Amino acid sequence: MATRCCAALLLPMALVLFAGSSPPVLAQLELGYYSKTCPNVEAIVRKEMEKIISAAPSLAGPLLRLHFHDCFVRGCDASVLLNSTAGNRLSEMDATPNRSLRGFGSVDRVKAKLEAACPNTVSCADVLTLMARDAVALAKGPVWAVALGRRDGRVSSATEAAGQLPPSYGDVPLLAKIFAAKGLDLKDLAVLSGAHTLGTAHCRSYAGRLYNFSSAYTADPSLDSRYADRLRTRCRSVDDDDAVLSEMDPGSFKTFDTSYYRHVAKRRGLFQSDAALLADATTREYVQRIATGRFDDEFFNDFSESMVKMGNVGVLTGAQGEIRRKCYIVN
Ligand code: HEM
Repeated sequence: MATRCCAALLLPMALVLFAGSSPPVLAQLELGYYSKTCPNVEAIVRKEMEKIISAAPSLAGPLLRLHFHDCFVRGCDASVLLNSTAGNRLSEMDATPNRSLRGFGSVDRVKAKLEAACPNTVSCADVLTLMARDAVALAKGPVWAVALGRRDGRVSSATEAAGQLPPSYGDVPLLAKIFAAKGLDLKDLAVLSGAHTLGTAHCRSYAGRLYNFSSAYTADPSLDSRYADRLRTRCRSVDDDDAVLSEMDPGSFKTFDTSYYRHVAKRRGLFQSDAALLADATTREYVQRIATGRFDDEFFNDFSESMVKMGNVGVLTGAQGEIRRKCYIVN
């Protein structure tokens, strides 16, 4: 496994300003937050993740995506893990973009191990952050230090999720706006899109590019036409039943590497949001630079830094929220 590491390791602390009831409080996530209360937390997560990924390597992508979808709605507070209930009929996980999320069972499994070792101590939000980090590392990607101390939210709403997650048809102005609302910039957009080096997608996520894209073209003109032909054999109509999954980084979808950027540079990114990276000067320059294959370490370093930023979005700390005993239900 690669152990290349990063500037993010050197970040001593993540400072998070949150506005509660008056007065505003400066809260902190800390490296080693559980050093006294659950000193083996990272080793326990890592050991379980090694078992999970060695049994099902294709789970690395879904576990990384879970963390992203959690952080973009109400911050990284594990609200995406809460089941719908009689009192809350549509929780975040039932929002349309979240219906394709996977890996919930793995989170429950890791959380159960932690509850056995250190009851009522480690939040589900921290578990998810660590699992995403380890998923990338076990897929041969970079390793970064994770500041901990996130608390779990008690609110989870599908309606709220709808507007905050970037759609696959997004162009750069729209994606940049959604990222900026989370304190993430254009570079973070170019860098974090590189997560699409892992995982697979359903036909409905890109079918719109293949059929009736506009009155002038049958397919999205920003998609390589031969690649579009190949995709049409897997995704037969906009109403395809989704039985067939497509790799977003064909050939290495279980390995965290830079080949995603080579696909995008060749107009073979799967989603419009991937293709859109070529339409803006800043993101295009980044795609083309990393696509050369000469700056893999730079990408690993950038990805680590952007993941630390994303992992700090809107976190609950101190006395906010709770430490959930089970990740799918509030205490
Ligand atoms: C830039 C805006 C983004 C858009 C529009 C987007 C959209 C999507 C869509 C539509 C899928 C396929 C869902 C399916 O059909 O099953 C997907 C998959 C995925 N996304 Fe993104 N995404 C974005 C950013 C990110 C970020 C920031 C991350 C993580 C840091 C990420 C990680 C993933 C992963 C790992 C998968 C594969 C999941 C699997 O294998 O089940 N994405 N994304």
